[in-house]
Amino acid sequence: MTTEILSLAKYLASSRSEFTLLEMNQYLSRKYEEKDLHAVLKPHFYDLDLFCSADYKCTKLVKGPLPSDEGIISELEEFFKNPELPLSMEKLIEAYIERSCGKNWHKGETATQIRENIVKQKEEYWKGEGKGKEKVKVKGESRYPMIRVISYLLYHFPVYFCQYQYLLLELFKGGVLMNKMSIVDVGSGPGTITLSTLDFLRKLQDIYSRNKMDVKLNIRIGSIEHELENIRCYRELTSGFLLSGNANILNSNITIDESVHSPVETAPVPGDVDLMIFSNVLAELRSLPHERADVVERIASVSKNPTLIIIEPADLDNSKALRVSQHALIKKGFNVYSPCSFIWGRLCSGINCWSFQEPGNIKVPGFMEKIADTEDSYRYLNTDMKFSSVILRKDRLTKHAYRAKGKIMALSNLKKHIKKHINVAVSVMSGNLGDEKTFVSKICDGTASFPCYAVMPVYHMSENNRALIDAGYGDIIEISGTLVRENVEQSSFNLFITRNTIVNIVG
Ligand SMILES: C[S@@+](CC[C@H](N)C(=O)[O-])C[C@H]1O[C@@H](n2cnc3c(N)ncnc32)[C@H](O)[C@@H]1O
Repeated sequence: MTTEILSLAKYLASSRSEFTLLEMNQYLSRKYEEKDLHAVLKPHFYDLDLFCSADYKCTKLVKGPLPSDEGIISELEEFFKNPELPLSMEKLIEAYIERSCGKNWHKGETATQIRENIVKQKEEYWKGEGKGKEKVKVKGESRYPMIRVISYLLYHFPVYFCQYQYLLLELFKGGVLMNKMSIVDVGSGPGTITLSTLDFLRKLQDIYSRNKMDVKLNIRIGSIEHELENIRCYRELTSGFLLSGNANILNSNITIDESVHSPVETAPVPGDVDLMIFSNVLAELRSLPHERADVVERIASVSKNPTLIIIEPADLDNSKALRVSQHALIKKGFNVYSPCSFIWGRLCSGINCWSFQEPGNIKVPGFMEKIADTEDSYRYLNTDMKFSSVILRKDRLTKHAYRAKGKIMALSNLKKHIKKHINVAVSVMSGNLGDEKTFVSKICDGTASFPCYAVMPVYHMSENNRALIDAGYGDIIEISGTLVRENVEQSSFNLFITRNTIVNIVG
């Protein structure tokens, strides 16, 4: 039956812009209920370029960027003012924990075991045991076989879930997200990135619907993961999210493929993928940072025009390692969409670069509050979003197209201009690294082999230079009339910003 239905759907999809599932019965050897036809065709909607609505009307989907304008963007940005795990997601996670550890998971002996495991996971991480080494599983380690996953959900999941949406927002604003997208979540863990993507699309569809915009989505999400217990959790949470009424994503056909159970190094190469995410996974590979580029390149090798997102923790080692992998990927033909802009058209070395984004804190989710309801509660609270990332493409598309022009000096020349006033154009590559009295931003134009900072005492802040504070991570600013100072102890350079220095955001 499937073959006949499928070939008819293929024919209709290629010859009409719209048809109903009921109409199909005119051409089939027997009659089917619409819901049965829908069930047969659902896994094929993506390949057929079809969108089929809840009332069984099918439309040919023409692939294009998701529409955005200032109004849509500002409604979407509202969510980012108070970042938090949506209630539907909190409930889903908590229900999962309850199914695994019982209703009283946050009390008594069970809570103690979970807390111990959270602390152990953090210690392993800082000792580097998560990086490049198999985790040793002790038999009978816990009454709860999924305790590692549960600890991850309680402690790491909320921040990683929320921070990833900043990158989706950036891609949305840049017109890079499509109405038809194939996505692969590599090293998916319990489903952080997949669930975050679904939540982002849900928010977007709610906004479109409020604005009476009919935007049909056809999304296919695949994943690669080498730990079976993560795959089980992924399956349960993603299907649970799609099934739960209050998490419904309007106007969308979503297909979640069964996870590929394999190390990413040897996993089958996915077909043509639009968006590929490696979130907190590269640092766990056995290979050296520059070799990780081979793993990424192989996984993206069949994709015609993929967007690759790599996210790593913000600590010195992982952050620097990410830039080395990034550099190796550039050498393989990828280009950086963001956050780095090569303002002088020259590539940087990727060496010794520590740069991360700090969008702020998320609201403590209810389940985290419960596990932290004990002595030393700070050990179980994790709300600080801080991450290093890069977005790569193969087609030279970049977030900012700005190039240095006019009387602007490259940062590589600072040594020759110590104690002089100069003009530069740079990307802002950090939040405030100083304190409330002195604003310090890491800056980069891709030319210097030493760290450079813009330093502004707050008493020098004026209308002329405010843009330094307003600039977002990765934004490009021109600084005119800044004093060059060398910091010999730190082997770095500071550009001193006074009330007369002019700062403008240019990209
Ligand atoms: C820190 S978790 C990140 C999970 C998720 N991406 C997130 O951001 O929350 C790293 C995940 O990568 C998986 N992983 C580590 N090495 C892997 C490999 N070589 N192949 C596939 N998955 C791997 C781990 O099992 C784990 O689920």
